[in-house]
Amino acid sequence: MVEFGSDFRAKYFSQVPKDIVPVNHGAFGLTPSLVQDYLNKVTNSQEKYPDEFYLIESKKIYIEQLKALGEFLNVDYHNLALLVNGSTAINCVLRSIPWDFENDKVLFTSVTYGACAKSVKFLHEAHGLQYDIVDLQYPIEDKDVIAKVESYLSQGNYRLCMFDLVASMPAVKLPYEELIKLCKKYNTWSLIDGGHGVGLVDMNFIQDLEPDFLTSNLYKWLSVPKSCAFLYVNPKHHKLIQTFPISWSYDLNAKENSQVENPNLLIDKFWYFGTVNYGARLCIKKALEFRQECCGGEEKIREYRTNLQKQAIDLVLKEFGPDAKLLQNSTNSLEIPGMFNVSFPKTAKYADLIEHLADSYFAYRTFKGKCEPLMVTETKKFAPFVAHNKELWVRFSVTLYNVASDYAVAAKSVKETIQKCLDEELEVNATY
Ligand SMILES: Cc1ncc(COP(=O)(O)O)c(C=O)c1O
Repeated sequence: MVEFGSDFRAKYFSQVPKDIVPVNHGAFGLTPSLVQDYLNKVTNSQEKYPDEFYLIESKKIYIEQLKALGEFLNVDYHNLALLVNGSTAINCVLRSIPWDFENDKVLFTSVTYGACAKSVKFLHEAHGLQYDIVDLQYPIEDKDVIAKVESYLSQGNYRLCMFDLVASMPAVKLPYEELIKLCKKYNTWSLIDGGHGVGLVDMNFIQDLEPDFLTSNLYKWLSVPKSCAFLYVNPKHHKLIQTFPISWSYDLNAKENSQVENPNLLIDKFWYFGTVNYGARLCIKKALEFRQECCGGEEKIREYRTNLQKQAIDLVLKEFGPDAKLLQNSTNSLEIPGMFNVSFPKTAKYADLIEHLADSYFAYRTFKGKCEPLMVTETKKFAPFVAHNKELWVRFSVTLYNVASDYAVAAKSVKETIQKCLDEELEVNATY
């Protein structure tokens, strides 16, 4: 077995140009070349005789892949659906619920992924769906997150509460098991966004806690090609949930004999939702095989990420200097092996400007729009950042093709680029 790190990158990620220092796996994932080759093969075979593929083969293959995923997740595959990505899955749920717009409310948090928050905002603007946002300023203790969410749930008429497994920016783990229990306590449906989920976090809790809805991308941390995500739907909602976009399966419920539950209803609905390239979902078994045979299984993967992350944090802190800090709380529950955040050093020169960026969403987006493209195209060392709670937090990802030196090299370059952009900002606007 090839060791993780440089040799692993050379063997399984040889498509990545040598001058790229890839420390942003969390954003889009990176498909191992052998899985990507398999995707090309299945895509080509779909194009040989599409009538046969779409009409005869595709449902059968869908079920095979679903079974493999169910076994991996330890979840009954009848409760799983495959979709193209996390945003689609969130829309699937939000657009399927027959809202009582007069009375129902949705609760989500201020670190909810922007695209998902906007899906709720669309329903608010188009139809009047009411919502509240729990403000979470990191670092924060888990018990305080739970108390804050409970203070809303215990008072409002919340039909649904949406929260992340691992928030994206900054990358922090939420106390999701406790939040699922809290939702049950207050009779509120839980919608869990695992944009960063399977492959990063142990998902055994799904079977035990049976949330209402949970989605996770497969292309980020599970080595499956883009575009692929799963949606877990509690059996009590199989009739309610619809595909997004609404498609042929819309009226399947009506055909159901209400006396006889159809255990395959979710499969019957989701195996086809229009003609797209279904290739990525056909690579789930191949990706799981890669993780077992080429990586040695999930334990080994987690162990490598955990050890490398410790070194990476030290190297980034050293490079950023004494004014930088790791985003962590007193119980060390925020960090997950795979992503961590370090603050850009808030020295006296930059303090007011950084606080301004954290206070003004417009200023922050403008600044980000100038700075991040430089990292992507000029330096080729890209780590995204977020202005949050008076700091600029830079997120680094850690995965199997990384080595410790990536973090020293990337941190130095990222620090220089941000510094350069901050200096330009100070020149333009002398008030900071
Ligand atoms: C927390 C979280 N949720 C949802 C998503 C949406 O994923 P997608 O772009 O695949 O729709 C992301 C993507 O980065 C994410 O980080």
